[in-house]
Amino acid sequence: MSKGSSDILKASEIIKRGGVVAFPTETVYGLGANALNPIAVAKIFALKERPSFDPLIVHICSFDQISLVAEEISPLVKELTDKFWPGPLTIVLPKKSIVPDIVTSGLPTVGVRMPDNSIALELIKECGTPLAAPSANKFGNLSPVKASHVKKQLPDVDFVLDGGKTKGGIESTIVSVKGNICTLLRPGLITLEDIERVMPQKFIFANDKPEEIIAPGLLKSHYSPSKPLYITDLSKIVFPENSGVIIHSKREDLNVKKIICTSADCTLTEVAANLFSAMHTMEEDDDISQIYIESVVEKGLGIAIMDRVKKAAYRYTMSC
Ligand code: TXA
Ligand code: MG
Repeated sequence: MSKGSSDILKASEIIKRGGVVAFPTETVYGLGANALNPIAVAKIFALKERPSFDPLIVHICSFDQISLVAEEISPLVKELTDKFWPGPLTIVLPKKSIVPDIVTSGLPTVGVRMPDNSIALELIKECGTPLAAPSANKFGNLSPVKASHVKKQLPDVDFVLDGGKTKGGIESTIVSVKGNICTLLRPGLITLEDIERVMPQKFIFANDKPEEIIAPGLLKSHYSPSKPLYITDLSKIVFPENSGVIIHSKREDLNVKKIICTSADCTLTEVAANLFSAMHTMEEDDDISQIYIESVVEKGLGIAIMDRVKKAAYRYTMSC
């Protein structure tokens, strides 16, 4: 048996006993427990220090499992899942009563997704139950894209399944679907344009502006590093000593302690994939006292990227 599969078995044993395990997905690492066991789910909230008003996403490994936890799985929902699952799209639907209220923070709906990561899918299969999993970070802090990021923030987690760096880098897109009305609740790796492109004229999109996005738990300050972070126009700034700068296309004219380039030419999938890991690297570097980051244009995947960047920098925006 490979180390990978023995680790998955170990993780599934812990989850079957009501424990909590961190595991990789294609977006960020999740902190998983049996979604149908309220006591196990309560441990996630405790470990993360997460407020009880913030519901968890339920992760499944096959389409059949959706009807275990959700209702109103219309032909349109089925078509949407056929196109985007496994993948970074969470769909909010009316919940079945088997899903404990703690998972959904008392809401009558549940967010469901099938992650596109073989370790996650095997783990869910091995557990034989859907897994409730938020991102595996302390509430409000940077999302983890490597096992080491999880261990840094959550040293008490029962086990971390190491699947290397996640490929997507930011969280799933969350939509609610009622009839043919699709409402964006959190921007993520899949854009509304992606949905419209593969399912033309099937949905009416109820909102698409970042300021209208309304998922509970999406506070203005979130995803934050432990050091000041400023969104900045690099041409206009005199950097103090010990500054770290995160840029999204190559340039050589900056005189600062540390530069991390998320992409050679501002390719948005690369920026997304490297965004949180760049912030983690700056956070971990003792020589860096403050971090500056460039913006990207808020279009397509740029909407989700700037959602994360603005929330990460929120505490420092007023003084910048
Ligand atoms: O990519 C992802 O979605 C990652 C990986 C681990 O799957 N998960 C993730 O979970 O980002 P979390 O807990 O950090 O963010 C999930 C957000 C919650 O803050 C909440 O706003 C929203 O999902 N959510 C969950 N259930 C919902 C529901 N029933 N209605 C509306 N929003 C919901
Ligand atoms: Mg999160």
